[in-house]
Formats: sequence, C-alpha cells, structure tokens
Amino acid sequence: MIRKYTFGTPFPTDAVVLDLPAETAPLNSMETQTDPEGRLILRLSLSPEEVIFGLGQNVRGIDKRGHRYESWNSDIFNHTEERPSLYGSHNFLVFFRPDRLFGIYLDDPGKIVWDLGCTRYDTAEITVESGSLNLYLLEEDSLTELARAFRSLTGRSYLPPRWAFGYIQSRWGYAGEDEVREVAAEHRKRHIPLDALCLDIDYMDGYRNFTWRKDAFPDLKRFQAAMKEEHLRLVPIIDAGIKVEEGYAPYDSGKARDAFCKKEDGSDFVAAVWPGRCCFPDFLREDVRRWFGSLYTPLLEAGIEGFWNDMNEPALFYTDEGVADAFALADRIRSGSVDYEAAWGLMRAFSGIANNPEDYRRFYHRPDGKPVRHDRVHNLYGAGMTRATSEAFRCFAPDKRMLLFSRSSFIGAHRYGGMWQGDNFSWWSHIKLALQMLPNLNLCGFLYCGCDLGGFGCDTTEDLLERFLQLGVFTPLMRNHSALHTREQEIYRFASWEIMRDTLTVRYALLPWLYSEFMKAALTDGMLFRPLAFDFPQDRRAVHTQDQLMLGDGCMIAPVYEQNAAGRYVYLPEDMLLIRFRFVADYDLVPLEKGDHWIDLALNEFPLFVRKNRAVFLCPGGEYSEELDDSRFTVLGQIETESAYDLYRDDGLTSDPDLAAGLTRISLSPDGKLKREIVL
Ligand code: NOJ
Repeated sequence: MIRKYTFGTPFPTDAVVLDLPAETAPLNSMETQTDPEGRLILRLSLSPEEVIFGLGQNVRGIDKRGHRYESWNSDIFNHTEERPSLYGSHNFLVFFRPDRLFGIYLDDPGKIVWDLGCTRYDTAEITVESGSLNLYLLEEDSLTELARAFRSLTGRSYLPPRWAFGYIQSRWGYAGEDEVREVAAEHRKRHIPLDALCLDIDYMDGYRNFTWRKDAFPDLKRFQAAMKEEHLRLVPIIDAGIKVEEGYAPYDSGKARDAFCKKEDGSDFVAAVWPGRCCFPDFLREDVRRWFGSLYTPLLEAGIEGFWNDMNEPALFYTDEGVADAFALADRIRSGSVDYEAAWGLMRAFSGIANNPEDYRRFYHRPDGKPVRHDRVHNLYGAGMTRATSEAFRCFAPDKRMLLFSRSSFIGAHRYGGMWQGDNFSWWSHIKLALQMLPNLNLCGFLYCGCDLGGFGCDTTEDLLERFLQLGVFTPLMRNHSALHTREQEIYRFASWEIMRDTLTVRYALLPWLYSEFMKAALTDGMLFRPLAFDFPQDRRAVHTQDQLMLGDGCMIAPVYEQNAAGRYVYLPEDMLLIRFRFVADYDLVPLEKGDHWIDLALNEFPLFVRKNRAVFLCPGGEYSEELDDSRFTVLGQIETESAYDLYRDDGLTSDPDLAAGLTRISLSPDGKLKREIVL
C-alpha cells in the first residue's frame, strides 16, 4: 500500500513513475510541523529495537540510526564517519521493528536533514528545507515487499550489458593509447581476466568533454576496434562542465541554444573545473538533455559502448565571485586586528572555496522557462546528466544495452544508469564502508554499483587490494581505480599478483550465476544485496548485523576488512554451507551449523555462505566475459529436499530482455553431495 501526501508546492523531479492522488486525510504516522522559516519538520519516536535502512549512498552502518545525515549531493573525497552526505541523495527510509514496518520516500530535490536518533536516540527528526514535497508512505508485510513496492513507485532498475560484470581496470593518469595497450597486454600475458579499461580525463584534449588528444589517441575508433579484437572495451569519462571557449563545438552549440545555467543577471554561470572556466548544462530542461546527449555521438560512432559520468554534483572548484569574497575577507583582516576567530574564518573561506554553498545559490535553471535557483533543485543535477546520456544511448542504439555509471545520483536515475561509490581511500575501513552501502543502494533502486577496488586516494598495499578484490568478486561493478600520483594499482604491479588473479578467476566462474541473480533482481524489482533482516526478520542477531550481507538467492557474504586478520567471526542465522574460495578450482566446502563461527581466511581465501537447498553455480571460467560457457556448471550446495534453481541467460545486450524466456529451471535433488556437475 502506497499513500501520497503533498506539502506545499513540490518541485516535479520525475523520480516517481506511479501517478497517485494525494491523500486528503492527514499523515498520522509522523508528527509534522512547519517552522517559522517555512521548513517542514517530520518527527517520529523510535523504540530501542528500531532499525532504519535506506538513504542509499552514505557513510556508517547498514542501519542508519544514530547519525545526522543530509541530502545534499557533495563532491567529497574524504569519506570519514562524520560526513553528513556523499555524492547522491536517496531519500528513502525504512523503519523496522518487531511490531512496526513502514517506509517513507521524500520526493524533493533540495536539502533535507535526517537526524536519525542523533540528537535524541529515541527520536527521528527530518527537516525539509523547502517545506514542499510529496511524501510517500509505504506499508507492506515484509521488508522484501516494501523494497518491491518502492520500485513499483519509482521504476525498474537500469540494466547494464553482461560484459559490464567483467573486471574493469581504471586509473587516473593513463597517458595515451600506448599505456592503455600495455596495461591490457600485461593482463592478457598473465591470464588476469579483464573486460574493460576506463579512460579518465587524461584522454581528453585539455580536459574538454567529447574531445580526445590526437597526439595520445590518434584514432580512437581504430584503437577501440583493436581492443575489441582482444575482447576489451574502452570506457571513457565525461564530466558535467563544458569549457568556456569559442571555437570549441560543444560550447558553441550550447551557447547557441542557450543551454547553460544562468546567473541572476541572465549571463551564463561560470565556475572552474578541470578544463578551466566552465558552463553547466541545464539538465532540468529536456531540450538541453537532448542536446548534451547528442554530443556523445562521435564517441559512440567510434565504437564506445560504455561511459562514466563524473563531477556532476556539480563539483565546482571555484567561482570568481567566491574567490573575490575570500580575498575581501582577507583584506578586512589585513586592515584590522587578527584574533583566532578571524584566522579561522580566513582558513574556512579559502579551504571552502570549492563546492561553496554560496556558489550553489548563484545560478538558476529554467525547467519551464521560469528561473529556479539551483540550491532548490541541487540534488537533481547528476540525475539529469545520467538521463541525458541514457536517452542518447537509446536513440543511438535502441536495441542495445550500454554501460553507464555516474558519480552523482538521485532516485529516478536508477532507471537510467548505475553508479560507483566515489572517491574512497586505500583504507581498510573503506572495505567495510563499501559493504555497508551496498544494501542501502539496492534498496533505493541502484543495483549496478561498486566501489573503487584497492581504494582511490592514497597508496594501496598488496594485502589491502587483495581483500578489496574479495569484496569486488560479488559486486556488479568490479573496477580497480586509483588516483593520479598514488601507487600504481594494477594487479600485475604486485609481487602477489597470482593470488589476485586467482581471486578474479572465481569472479569469472561465478559471473553467469551473478548475472542471473542480478537480472532476476532487476526484472522483478528485487534486491541483489540485502541486510540480513530481509531474510531473517525474526532473528534479533541477524537484524542488527552490520558486516555481512545476503546476496541473491540464499547466499551470504562476509568479507575480511581488517589488516593482518587471519579470518573473521561470522554469524549464521541458520545452517549454511561455507565455500572457502582460493581459486576457481580450489575451494573448501564446509557445512556449518547455525550460530557463531570463527572462519580461518588466509590472505588468498574468501568465503561465500549458501543456505540449505540453495546452490551456487560455477562455470569453467575464462579471461573475458564473452569466453564464458554458461552451459556447463559445477554446482555447489547442500541439497536436502527436492529443489530447483532458475538460471537466467540472455545475449547480454538486448535492451528489452524477457525474463520468462531467459529462465532455465534446474532441478536439484538430494543426493548427499555438496558438489555436482551439470550440462544444460
Ligand atoms: C573524480 C572522480 O571521482 C575520480 O574517479 C576521477 O578519477 C577524477 N575525478 C579525475 O577525473
């Protein structure tokens, strides 16, 4: 059951696909109040047992209780515990306790503050700055049904091509075709599986979108074709800002169409990003989305089948106005007395010059010809860019799925693309952080996602990369990405590269099964990763577990995320089969009983747990996704009663897949074995 409540004059976000009439009766589940500043405040008391899932991309635990979050898309490279927001805003929350279950979706693109038991542990207080929104109240009998209802409200999740489940190597700093070729060759030479290579901003000519450096990539089409012979795809980055430069075609055509966001005086808003001074497409306008989407055409014609969209919060390094304000403050201080307040103010002024909230108040969108100040709709910006790209793909190749993942997002964008979890660090805590984000992203509709494996910022180490990869084996987007000037992070750079390669062989063996689980989840509005509470709602231990996830049909993951750990403790809500992987053809099968277990996991070992009468399917493996044979499997599982698995297969590309046509039912009979071979 979904009910809609309207407050004030909501801004249309296109996040919701279901047309519901607004309720006329008041909202009883929460106390509501408008404060003197016009902000809407929603209040709810929380019982000691209550857990809160949702808010998609955010720091801290799977259960979001006990912190103050904000919906305010932010270019933040330091994902520390106190952060109120990251790159996306996903305003869906689920409140769950033994006697109460409901969800709320707050459809508003402005700032929202979520005090979820932070000020008072027994109270959730949500402040909607604009005072206007559509609030959807979702009530179902189970968490699974609630998640499904949310997807019926907001639409089906984006479907990537199957090759996008292969391993992707990325790094900010690849200098040109020769280096990319060499990285590819090093993988192939050592039989390290690989499906794609990302091109970061270095491929562009002066960091201008939709251009490439002719000295470094003389013929991109030929290069992509040569890579394709090796079964490799190139995945270039596109940023949001368009460089202000007459003679640069995207700028000229944008200017001619008046496509850019404006300042109050009607001139184009300009801020610095990688290429220098940039204008920002007004993605809230349909004509602008169509124009921006058309700019991808030359790259698509060069054979590119995937993109990552970046800097689309939008990230602003500085504006002339912001710099002038900071210098004016410095001048005032120079001519006055200096005390610590002044010194701190000065530091704040300069360190806060990037992504300055004041700058987000300096420009306007014109969705219907009427100006809307950016801060009112800030959280929609990246979603508009994702939509523009996805719609361009549909025009260019209507029958084909393309890869697209974005840094910034809003609910609704989950229909158009995936996302990556942003600029994490090579920190152990960031393995856990990535794990904890996954189920909440899935709950909010983002199924195709993953983190920068190995860590983006600062130098990784061999053991850290290996443990990151062990999580990545299970994430749909499995990409190793690192920042300029950090330690080179490609697997083959490390003495223990063979261990990492062996880990990847497991991913490739699991790939058809993982793809099957992903597609079934996406096509039935389900979740690939779930908090344990979804499958074991009566089990208090499971409900409060913060470092294990249910995966697909009856599996559970519990990666190691601590340095020098020889294993980890795992809670099993029921009897399960432990598969301790080392290599595609080397694993232990250990039936374990419900309860707590210490699991030994040497650096080259990682676990997958499987419920009874469920199974995991391993294909013989391969070095790229197209090589995988999805008709022969080793099936691992403890089958005690007559069971079946529905394996989904398709060509991995078709844009309108038919679930029923893709399913093959595989019977699993009890035979006392943990491992069996099947040929379909
Ligand atoms: C920021 C992105 O988050 C990161 O992944 C990328 O490498 C840099 N921009 C450079 O493009």
